Amino acid sequence: MARKKIALIGGGQIGGVLTQLIAQRQLGDVVLFDIVEDLPQGKALDIAEASRVDGFDISVKGTNSYKDIEGADLVIVTAGLPRKPGMSRDDLLTTNAQIMKSVAENVKNYAPNSIAIIISNPLDAMVTLFQKVTGISHHKVIGQAGVLDSSRFATFIAWELGVSVKDINAMVLGGHGDTMVPLVRYANVNGIPAMELLERKYGDKTKAVEVMKAMVERTKMAGGEVVKLLKTGSAFYSPASSAIAMAESIIYDEKRVLPVCAYLQGEFGINGYYVGVPAVLGENGIENILELTLDQEEQAALDNSVNAVRSLVADMVRLGF
Ligand code: APR
Repeated sequence: MARKKIALIGGGQIGGVLTQLIAQRQLGDVVLFDIVEDLPQGKALDIAEASRVDGFDISVKGTNSYKDIEGADLVIVTAGLPRKPGMSRDDLLTTNAQIMKSVAENVKNYAPNSIAIIISNPLDAMVTLFQKVTGISHHKVIGQAGVLDSSRFATFIAWELGVSVKDINAMVLGGHGDTMVPLVRYANVNGIPAMELLERKYGDKTKAVEVMKAMVERTKMAGGEVVKLLKTGSAFYSPASSAIAMAESIIYDEKRVLPVCAYLQGEFGINGYYVGVPAVLGENGIENILELTLDQEEQAALDNSVNAVRSLVADMVRLGF
């Protein structure tokens, strides 16, 4: 079986970590593209020179020429500016939309049959724009946000309950912004509702609700918390790992159920927008969207989040994209 060709558009912080993770897992041959001269070549060389130590023999090539991504099976896009302290993801809209447009035009040219995972922010708008410009089917253009937001939520629950994070299932729906919707009612520890364990821990329902609320808020602001500490950019290890989970499910046709930014056509009562929902990821990209019952409060929170996505996309259209 031929090796997969994976094109990474953007050779910055996330692009570098993605390259290393793909190499170490031998997921496919990597082409790392960036507009900055020598940067992707330097990172590719550095990572390739660890091949003997890490024991991988896939090829890692850095480039400033889009021609090199020709025929890629999978494209992961991180091109664009990251946030600085005090910025919201939406503040990146104008700059990153310009970048995304040029990226999409080139992917349309050189890798129109690829499946694409978009990471650049503001995520929901960037996925929408990429799909619109490339014309690649909606189920093959997927945004990474929910896997990371959910992992952040799960991490906080694990820390709070003093149990292994491996046993936490927690999911975040909605847009990748401050309105995202961590699903408290479905969060569980190996099937045991997280709220039940919190109530037992504190012996008091009000306190348990308060503690959960704090974790929900921290999840929503988790990206900003990292930005504030790093000062010069945004999170990059965890977004890279999250995209790798999606890439593996696609490349190995695992059919994992992951919360991803998917194009909705009536699911959850939403039509014509990219929003974070649980989906089955396999060799065809998004193979199914799994709907679940939301109570009134959860549905209202999701609707609110969708409204934020809607106005972000409207802003982008108003800007001429
Ligand atoms: N084409 C390709 N690459 C570009 C372009 C372009 N037109 N414009 C900028 N880039 C490259 C930059 O040169 C840089 O190397 O995109 C890279 C972005 O890398 P970083 O600035 O290190 O940002 P990173 O932390 O990797 O985040 C990338 O993902 O999570 C989001 O908000 C984050 O939008 C940001 C993106």
